[in-house]
Amino acid sequence: MAMERTFSIIKPDATARNLTGAINAMIEQSGLRIVAQKRIRITREQAETFYAIHRSRPFFGELVDFMTSGPVVVQVLEGEDAIARYRDLMGATDPAKAEPGTIRKIHAKSIGENSVHGSDAADTAAQEIGQFFAGIEIVG
Ligand code: RTP
Ligand code: MG
Repeated sequence: MAMERTFSIIKPDATARNLTGAINAMIEQSGLRIVAQKRIRITREQAETFYAIHRSRPFFGELVDFMTSGPVVVQVLEGEDAIARYRDLMGATDPAKAEPGTIRKIHAKSIGENSVHGSDAADTAAQEIGQFFAGIEIVG
């Protein structure tokens, strides 16, 4: 297994409920290392760029509204096979379908307000990390 980095967002529904620490504890307990982190408000333009792949989906407007509705915590996570491991830890997009013990099963409110984002592949991870972090901000 290769050492990887993945991009994570703690979404506005989670920051609103003061869950940053609880989610970070789950991330660290899983063995992934938080090597960069900042709490920001993302702009509509940043959200539209970030979720551009979903532009034609019916939920796109709702998704952009949600992601800009409050603060988010953007993160870089590092570890062996980090991309797949973080997807496993997050659980299914719809919390009703997520496995017990996953972040979304425990914390998500709905399929839209589902507490966390994680990159789905190596190329998207690199692209997403580059959208929000300069190399100097990532300290492994
Ligand atoms: P993410 O990109 O945020 O990590 O989530 P994901 O891969 O599990 O799901 P994806 O299909 O990429 O969808 C991106 C985000 O859009 C919202 N969504 N809403 N209302 C709906 O039916 C619906 N479907 C997706 C969720 O916030 C989802 O995480
Ligand atoms: Mg996705």
